[in-house]
Amino acid sequence: MADRADKARWTSPLRRRRGPGWAEQTPTWRAARPALIADTLKRASARPSGNWFVAGASREVRPGSPYGRTVGGVEVVLWRSRSGGLRAGPGACPHLGAPLRDSRVVCGTLVCHWHGLALDGSAFADWQPYPAHDDGVLVWVRLDAVGGEEPTERPVVPDRPAPGSGVDAVYTAVGRCEPQDVVANRLDPWHGSWFHPYSFVDLTVVREPRGDEDDAFEVDVSFRVAGRLVVPVRAEFTAPEPRTVVMRITDGEGATSVVETHATPLTAGDAQRPRTAVIEAVVAASDRRGFALARAAAPVLRPLMRRTAGRLWRDDLAYAERRWELRSSGRFPG
Ligand code: FES
Ligand SMILES: [Fe+2]
Repeated sequence: MADRADKARWTSPLRRRRGPGWAEQTPTWRAARPALIADTLKRASARPSGNWFVAGASREVRPGSPYGRTVGGVEVVLWRSRSGGLRAGPGACPHLGAPLRDSRVVCGTLVCHWHGLALDGSAFADWQPYPAHDDGVLVWVRLDAVGGEEPTERPVVPDRPAPGSGVDAVYTAVGRCEPQDVVANRLDPWHGSWFHPYSFVDLTVVREPRGDEDDAFEVDVSFRVAGRLVVPVRAEFTAPEPRTVVMRITDGEGATSVVETHATPLTAGDAQRPRTAVIEAVVAASDRRGFALARAAAPVLRPLMRRTAGRLWRDDLAYAERRWELRSSGRFPG
């Protein structure tokens, strides 16, 4: 609800920009050194994930119906117990293999739709549950055979604005590439205002990763809202684990908001034609309240939320797919 005080305090985050056009901006290719991106990716890949994979959005796993996702070639089914807790396990029924994603959940128990076998989430014959974690925005599943790392109790969940202080949205797209191609795209912030001029302008990398102790990009960038109207912010990019890149707005409108990009392999590691799901969570925050929050966050959020249908997402997937194509045919530069 809008109140008078909010209205009085509200100031527009929009700025009118008079910068150079696309062709006149400073080229970034010299700064975007392939070795720097490769080293940053390598350090990210070496961080522990504990074998946790993002399976989808929390709100996609609804009480009363199962949710299915194939991760690393392994068919997984997730559902909610009677108290709302997350349950997960192999997606094939232990009896004759029915796809459990199409089964039914009755009072928190997964009931196979072929012959009625009931799974409450504990082991049943060869059917062994997978550890699962609901962080409130995303659901994760631990697959030790796929990850091949030392398992951990919990996934590496990025810091987010406090629950209730913002709005969140989760989008998914699938590309023909491996998770590292998605991560490498996000670890190249320099392509922003060249490749996505419809969303970003005046992008400057003000700090580069300097190894494990200080492994962040700091970027000044303006989100283009419409025409010359932009919202300038400072953002930080980090890769806390091998399949996650986090962009956090550190200064400007919507500070503390995060955009988490999670790359989940759908196919097995040795697949000829790998496919990867890009599961992106936007968690926006603002000091402004009520209607002012929505109004203030909207200019920053809109270009990000538009990713699903928009060019931004398509273009980044095309970048990742191109990188995989070149890598897999031995033509990747550097
Ligand atoms: S296949 Fe599930 S109960 Fe028979
Ligand atoms: Fe991009």
